[in-house]
This record gives sequence, C-alpha cells and structure tokens, in this order.
Amino acid sequence: MKIGLLTSGGDCPGLNAVIRAAVLHGIKTYGHEFVGFRNGWHGVVEGRFMDLPRTRVKGLAGEGGTILGTSRTNPFDGPNGGPERISIMLERHAVDAIIAIGGEGTLAGAARLAEAGLPVVGVPKTIDNDLAATDYTFGFDTAVSIATDAMDRLRTTGESHHRCMVAEVMGRHVGWIALHSGMSAGAHAVLIPEQSVAMDQVCQWVTEVHDRGRSPLVVVAEGFIPEGEEDIVAGKGTEASGRPRLGGVGEYVTEEIERLTGIETRNTTLGHIQRGGAPTGFDRVLATRYGLAAVDLVGDKGWGQMVAIRGTDMVRVDFSEALAGLKTVPQHRWDEAKVLFGR
Ligand code: F6P
Repeated sequence: MKIGLLTSGGDCPGLNAVIRAAVLHGIKTYGHEFVGFRNGWHGVVEGRFMDLPRTRVKGLAGEGGTILGTSRTNPFDGPNGGPERISIMLERHAVDAIIAIGGEGTLAGAARLAEAGLPVVGVPKTIDNDLAATDYTFGFDTAVSIATDAMDRLRTTGESHHRCMVAEVMGRHVGWIALHSGMSAGAHAVLIPEQSVAMDQVCQWVTEVHDRGRSPLVVVAEGFIPEGEEDIVAGKGTEASGRPRLGGVGEYVTEEIERLTGIETRNTTLGHIQRGGAPTGFDRVLATRYGLAAVDLVGDKGWGQMVAIRGTDMVRVDFSEALAGLKTVPQHRWDEAKVLFGR
C-alpha cells in the first residue's frame, strides 16, 4: 500500500514524531510505502508531495514543526477542491490511503471526504486540547511547559518590582492551556473563554494578593471575554479562513487592572512561542503512539475514523464523534482552580 500523510492547520510540537512513527511502523510491519503531501490539503489537490523513505524520518521524534509544512487550506475550496479531484490525484499518484493529521477543521474536511468514499483516517492535533473525542492531543503538554516556564520567569521579575504580571496564552475557544499553566505556575487568577468574569472580580483578586506583599500573576486565555464586554480583538484582521486573528485581551486586562487598582501592571503575550521548538517527552510518546495506531487503522481500512487516547489506551472513534463538540473546561475544574485565586 502507498500511504499519503499530511499535516494541516496550526502546527504543534509532535507532528514530526507522528510522521516518523507511522513511516517506521508502516514500512517495518506492513511493507507500506509513504509519501508526504506538502502543506496540508493544498499538496493533495495540487499533487505536491515528497517521498518518505525510512531515512527521511530518522531522528524526527524530538523535532518541532512539521517536515511536510502545513496550511489551513480547505480540501473543498477552490476550483481544484472536492472529492472528485482528490480521488483523481490519489489515483494519478497511486496513493491508496490518506492519514490526515489535523484539528477540527481538518477532521471536518476529512469526514466529508470519507463520506464521499475516499480512504481517509485521522490523527487529532490541536495545541488547545479542545477536541471532544480524545483526552489529550500532542503539543498541549509542550505548550503548558513553555507557558509555565515563562510564568516562573514573570513571577521573579514581578516580585522584584512589586508589579502585577499578566500572561496571555493560546486558547481560542477553550482555556486548557491557561488552566494548566496557571495552576502549575501558581497564578492568582486564571481567565478562560468558558467563564465570564468581571474585571472588578479580577481586580479584587489582584489587590488581595498585592496587599499581602506578593506580585499578582494573572493568566488569560486569548479567547477570554470579560463580563459585560464584546469580543476583544486587537484590530489584527482575519486569517485566510475568515476567523479573527486573536491576541489583545492580555493588553486589555493589563490596562484595566492598572486603571482600576493603581497597581503597576505589565502584559506578556506568549503567542507562537507556545507552538515552537521540541516536544516534551510526554508529547513525543503520545505522538508516536498516535502514528503507530493510525497505520494499524489504515491496515483495517477504518476510513472515516481517527485514533484517540482514553486514559492510557489508544482507541478508534468516528470523525462524527470527534466533531460533536468542543472539549471545554468543565465547571468543576474551574471551581477547583478558583480555590487558589486571590487571597
Ligand atoms: O487553534 C490553535 C491556535 O494555536 C489558537 O490557539 C490560535 O488562536 C491560533 O491557532 C493561531 O493561529 P495562527 O498560527 O494561524 O496565527
């Protein structure tokens, strides 16, 4: 069998580990051949790919980014999109199956292609950890460690200057990175998209911490909307997909804290630093297991399914289950974290 791999959507540390594991397992166990489509679905519809022999994936487990490149191209968009064109391209290049490694948008496209009869399986990928059908996605643990390290640093400089420090992290619709990195760094307030909190409440937490001689640390997910406010988007325009480019709520929260409390406050937006560099050991293992399981799924012709992790077990789920809804931070996890906010 010849299998085509693609990485699509925002990148995540661990993508290369998935590719490496799939190629090694596929070649060693099944005698498959592999190609890698360039830049997500764009490479499929335009027939742009590279051969992936064993030598091409050596040493990749610890490398950040993706050797295939990525894009947010929708396989149904443009004159060359759609299942017929993709089917022609697969036939032309003798590719028997696609392993699509991507997030919600990628898997939605993959689901439509599988429904149209194309041989597609999925590997879940999102730094935000917001896919419903899997407990964890690779890249998330790396992002949390990077954010934790950054916050540890913000805390020491904050303490020296008796300032309040705000850290804005990724998390468009969900606050998993904020919750975990905030808890890990001992933040005094964590603001997430799932919970609308008034700035007065944030200021109360900040003041309580400041009054007992500490430097308050406030973590805010980029998709957080303060109670009573509209979306906070700092005029950064939209992505090609049409969704707004986020980043800006950290500045807003910083200015409001300083204005309402009089405490000198600084913002740091971590941005894409959270998605760059080498994956953690946890993410390398998770990504490797996903790659291995995806090749087994292809072997069983599990078209329309993706691999997932439940507890410590690798399982298979239908795309429809993965796309059923976002995995948001549940109320009890927020309540648990909130015990440590403020005083
Ligand atoms: O969806 C993952 C994510 O990292 C979001 O947290 C963030 O808003 C977005 O991607 C950034 O996308 P881009 O890399 O296209 O700027």
